[in-house]
Amino acid sequence: MADPHVEPQVQVVDDAAWLARAAADLVSSVVHADGPVTVVPATGETPVGTYAELAARHARGALDTTRVSVVQLDEYLGLAADDRRTLFGWMDRTVLTPLAIDDGRVARLPTDGDVDGACAEFDRALAARGGIDLAILGLGTNGHLGFNEPPSDAASATRTVELTPDTIGANARYWGGEDDVPTRAVTLGLRTLLDARRILLLVSGASKHAIVRRALEGPVGEDVPASFVREARGSVTVLVDRAAWEGE
Ligand code: GLP
Repeated sequence: MADPHVEPQVQVVDDAAWLARAAADLVSSVVHADGPVTVVPATGETPVGTYAELAARHARGALDTTRVSVVQLDEYLGLAADDRRTLFGWMDRTVLTPLAIDDGRVARLPTDGDVDGACAEFDRALAARGGIDLAILGLGTNGHLGFNEPPSDAASATRTVELTPDTIGANARYWGGEDDVPTRAVTLGLRTLLDARRILLLVSGASKHAIVRRALEGPVGEDVPASFVREARGSVTVLVDRAAWEGE
């Protein structure tokens, strides 16, 4: 049977500043297409420049966000709502407030009570309202997307996860040390992400060299969850800077 999947379009740019502008161009074109758009904005350091570029465009009236809805990608478990480490807070500071997206247009992942039950309902509600138009994703050094840690299969649902030592080590730089990184989290599942109409995967810096090559050129499988973007339902753009692509 012929492969029904369109290969990801890989675009190599000079540096992180170019990546931010190219990503902002793509996001703007999706946001300005007809009709409402549902966007998943990853946290993490990679997309921060892109969000700053979008915020600058919004501030000068060049980006209309009134029809944008946002769905949270991932969140730590076990934190108080006002804890400085919540990823919701990070998303609020970098995306929601600068782009004037009010609470009524934000779907926040469940973190209390029967979280897995609430996650199943979250997936159902998201599918019922038409799913994701644009997922802006980063790449974990262990190949995760969101907190879909290896091993994660392509059919995985939105759910609770245990973070791997790799991810706890990588996230330590956000909060001061490994002891400050929660060990459990909730993440949109790969199935939900791979159903998006468009995925924009942002990869920056030499530390991502080995994993971006593995994800795009190695075997597709659950040991490298990001490799499943090669089997995504919609179009996939990988914007990668030269340091990540060449490894220097
Ligand atoms: C984090 C987040 C992801 C993020 C990835 C890469 O652990 N859960 O959503 O995209 O790892 O982060 P960074 O861009 O800081 O390298």
